[in-house]
Amino acid sequence: MSHSLVTMSYIVAAILFILSLSGLSNQETARKGNYYGMLGMAIAIIATTLSGSVTAYGILIAALIVGGAIGARAAVKVEMTQMPELVAIMHSLVGLAAVLVGYANFMDHTISISGVEKTIHEIEIYIGILIGAITFSGSVIAFGKLSEKISGKPLLLPGRHWVNLLLLITTVILGYIFIQQADSIDNAIIPLAIMTAIALIFGIHMVMAIGGADMPVVISMLNSYSGWAAAATGFMLSNDLLIVTGALVGSSGAILSYIMCRAMNRHFLSVIAGGFGTTGGGEAAVIEGEVQPISAEETAEFLKDAKNIMIIPGYGMAVAQAQHTVNEITKLLRAKGKKVGFGIHPVAGRMPGHMNVLLAEAKVPYDIVFEMDEINDDFPNVDVSIVIGANDIVNPSALNDPNSPIAGMPVLECWKGETTIVLKRSMASGYAGVGNPLFVLENTRMLFGDANTTMQAVLKALKE
Ligand code: TAP
Repeated sequence: MSHSLVTMSYIVAAILFILSLSGLSNQETARKGNYYGMLGMAIAIIATTLSGSVTAYGILIAALIVGGAIGARAAVKVEMTQMPELVAIMHSLVGLAAVLVGYANFMDHTISISGVEKTIHEIEIYIGILIGAITFSGSVIAFGKLSEKISGKPLLLPGRHWVNLLLLITTVILGYIFIQQADSIDNAIIPLAIMTAIALIFGIHMVMAIGGADMPVVISMLNSYSGWAAAATGFMLSNDLLIVTGALVGSSGAILSYIMCRAMNRHFLSVIAGGFGTTGGGEAAVIEGEVQPISAEETAEFLKDAKNIMIIPGYGMAVAQAQHTVNEITKLLRAKGKKVGFGIHPVAGRMPGHMNVLLAEAKVPYDIVFEMDEINDDFPNVDVSIVIGANDIVNPSALNDPNSPIAGMPVLECWKGETTIVLKRSMASGYAGVGNPLFVLENTRMLFGDANTTMQAVLKALKE
C-alpha cells in the first residue's frame, strides 16, 4: 500500500473514531457510534498491516487469531454485571502493551537516529513504559476491587503522600540517569527496570488507597491513562493513528473523570491522592430504628393508588437482571394513566451509564429516563419511589453525616416523596460499605428478596 493511501486510511479511521465517541455520548446514537468504532478499527488494522512496516505476517496473523478468539470469547461470556471488571482488565492489557513495546523499542538495534531526535525517542520510551506500568498494575488492582477479590476499603499507609512523592522524585532521577546512559543497553536497562518496578508499585499503591465509593473516578482515570499509554506507544512506533487514537481516549477519559468527580462532589486530586473522606472526622453514625417490611401485594396497592411514580435503579437491578420485568411494570402503570419516571444517579451500578444500558436493553423509552439533576427537586411531588437494588445513591447520610465515607456526594433524595419502597435482599450495605438510614425512615417500606422475583410478584399483583 502506498504511503499516501495509508495516510488517507488513517485520517478516515481517525474521523470514524471521533464520530464513534460522539455517537457513544447519547443512548439513541450509541449503537451507531459502536459501528463507526468497529469500522474505524478494521480500517486501522488493514492499513497498518499493509503499510509495509509489517514483515512477519505469520506471527501477526497468529496473534490476531489468538487475540481475536480470546476477545470474542470474553465478549460473549461476560455478564452485564462483570462489564466493569472486563473493562479494567482490558485497560491493564493496553498498559502492558505499552511496557512491552517500550522495552522492544529500547533494545531494537536497527533504529538509527542520533542527537536530539535520539534523546526525544529515549524520553518517549521512558514515559511510555512509566505510564504503561502504572496503568497495568493500577488496572489489575481495580479489577480485583471491582470483582471483590480485593477489599474495597482504602489501604491507608502512614505517610503515604510522602511515599508517593519519594517515588515520583526517584522516577525523575532515574529518567535522567537513563538518558545519560542510553548509549549502552546494559547500563541503561538498570534505571529503566528500577523505574518499571517503581511504576508498578505506584499503580498498586494509588488504587489500593482509594475507597470503594470513589472507584468510578479510578475507572475513568485508568481509562484515560490507557489512552495516554497507547499514545506513547504510537510515538515509539511512529504511528500517527495510534497517537491520535490514544489522545482521543486519554482526553475523553480525563473529561469523564472530571464529570464523575463533579457528580460525586469530589476534588480530582483528593481522589487520586487516595482515601478521601476517610481520614478526618470520627466514626460514621450507627443506623438505629425499626424496619417496616412490605409484601409484593401491598407494593402493588401503593402503586395502584399513586399518580406520580419514580423508579430508582441501582447495582442490584443489574445483579437480578430485573430490567425487563421493570419495563413490563412501567408499561402497565403508564397504560393506567400514571406518570412514571426513572431517576438515574451518575454513579449508579458499577460503570458509567450502567443503568442506561440496562434500561435501553429492556426498551424503556428514553424520554422517561432522567438524570439526577433533572429530577432531584421533583421528589416532594412523587407519590411512590421504587428503589430497585440501589443503596449508596439514595443514602441520606451523604448529605447529613459529615463522618460518612460518602459525605458530600449528591444523592437521589427520594425520602422527600410520600413513600419510598426499597427492593433488596437483606439489610446489607452497598458498595461503599456504609449503613443507610433511609431503610428505617417513617415513610420507607422494605420489600425483601431478589429484585426480579419480587418485581414479578408485583407485576402479577398489579394485573389481578
Ligand atoms: P450499591 O450501593 O452497591 O447497592 C446495591 C444494592 O443492591 C446492595 O445493597 C444489595 O443489597 C442490592 N442487591 C444486590 N443484588 C440484588 C438482587 N439480586 N436483588 C435485589 N437487590 C440486590 O449500588 P448503587 O446504589 O447502584 O451505588 C453504586 C455504588 O458503586 C456507589 O458507591 C458507587 O460509587 C460505586 N461504584 C460505581 C461505579 C460506577 S462508574 N457507576 C464504579 C465502581 C463503583 P442486598 O445484598 O441486601 O440485596
